[in-house]
Amino acid sequence: MPGTFDAVLKRVAGDPARAGIADLVCLLAVEGAERQAQLFRLADAIRAREMGDAVHLRGVLEFSSYCQADCYYCGLRASNSGAKRYRLRPEAIFEQAKRGATLGLGTIVLQSGEDPWYDRNTLSRLIARIARETPLAITLSLGERSYADLQAFREAGAHRYLLKHETSDRRLYRRLRPARSLSRRLRLLSWLRRLGYQVGSGCIVGLPGQTLSSLAQDIKMLRDLDVEMVGAGPFIPHPATPLGTSEPGSVDLTLKVVAVTRLLVPSAHIAATTAMATLHPQGRELALQAGANVVMPNLTPIEYRRQYEIYPAKACLDETTEHCLGCLRGRIEDIGRTLGHGRGDSPKWHTGEVTGDAGQRRR
Ligand code: 5AD
Ligand code: SF4
Ligand code: FES
Repeated sequence: MPGTFDAVLKRVAGDPARAGIADLVCLLAVEGAERQAQLFRLADAIRAREMGDAVHLRGVLEFSSYCQADCYYCGLRASNSGAKRYRLRPEAIFEQAKRGATLGLGTIVLQSGEDPWYDRNTLSRLIARIARETPLAITLSLGERSYADLQAFREAGAHRYLLKHETSDRRLYRRLRPARSLSRRLRLLSWLRRLGYQVGSGCIVGLPGQTLSSLAQDIKMLRDLDVEMVGAGPFIPHPATPLGTSEPGSVDLTLKVVAVTRLLVPSAHIAATTAMATLHPQGRELALQAGANVVMPNLTPIEYRRQYEIYPAKACLDETTEHCLGCLRGRIEDIGRTLGHGRGDSPKWHTGEVTGDAGQRRR
């Protein structure tokens, strides 16, 4: 039973396990600068208590823009025949990973469209080499793969996997991701859990047809999944997609989603997304002050960046990784935070709740 905003905020933060959808909708619906600031301040305090002041950097290497999926919101969708496509060879991916380590990054995120050109053996060998020859934590963001693939990658040395559930609204999911289903997505997430990955998920905020109640369900789902990592960014329309003329998602609403996610999943690593920086010049800093604690600079060689066009006019498209690292350090220090050192694993990783051993999870 939701009450006034203040009462709901206090109750949800104090006992997130018992938060109901109506409570979360009440928080997501809050209007007015002062009340929103109250939500963000509380999320920020919980972030400080659970995760500290360090902002962790994850270097994202977009190694293939081929995708066999056809998501209505994404410029890389298979039906976008106007998209230019590229693939980095495993050797080149390894060189970029080494460059990331040399730049002082603790984590590399290997990201691509759903591209079966990289088969199980190719990727396993690459992952094993990065694990052996660099100190990097390895995060995969490859979309939907078979159980055998996910197992092989974990055994090869991958530590984490990002697989956003995108939307918890079954009908919206079916409409926007043809030939896919939410239940399959959730099955994949449970496999990742079973295999001992640190698991990341999240949603897009502001999809056409999405409601506050569906966003509340998204956040609830992240808690039920007990995720170690969250990415929730605003929808940005890409002109060459069926949603090309839709309105973009709202920066304010995305900040509220980030903040409420922090209340419900206090010890998750939550990203201040590049999509936020794309819609607002201080988008990432705002997210970092509303519950987020991770930023994901781009490691992709500049000559390929424009061809990885999930949405247009992405922030930092023409900036070198070195430039962005300097820029981010300044932005992070300007808001009174520090740059994270090391890999920045989930706090659960150290307590053994998620194990470092492939295929096991102690609970
Ligand atoms: N706007 C914002 N985010 C998007 N994604 C895909 N298309 C868009 C878009 N138009 C996100 C999805 C996906 C990730 C690679 O990018 O959440 O998981
Ligand atoms: Fe492919 Fe991911 Fe884009 Fe969907 S969101 S089309 S799976 S790259
Ligand atoms: Fe890329 Fe500022 S973070 S230019």
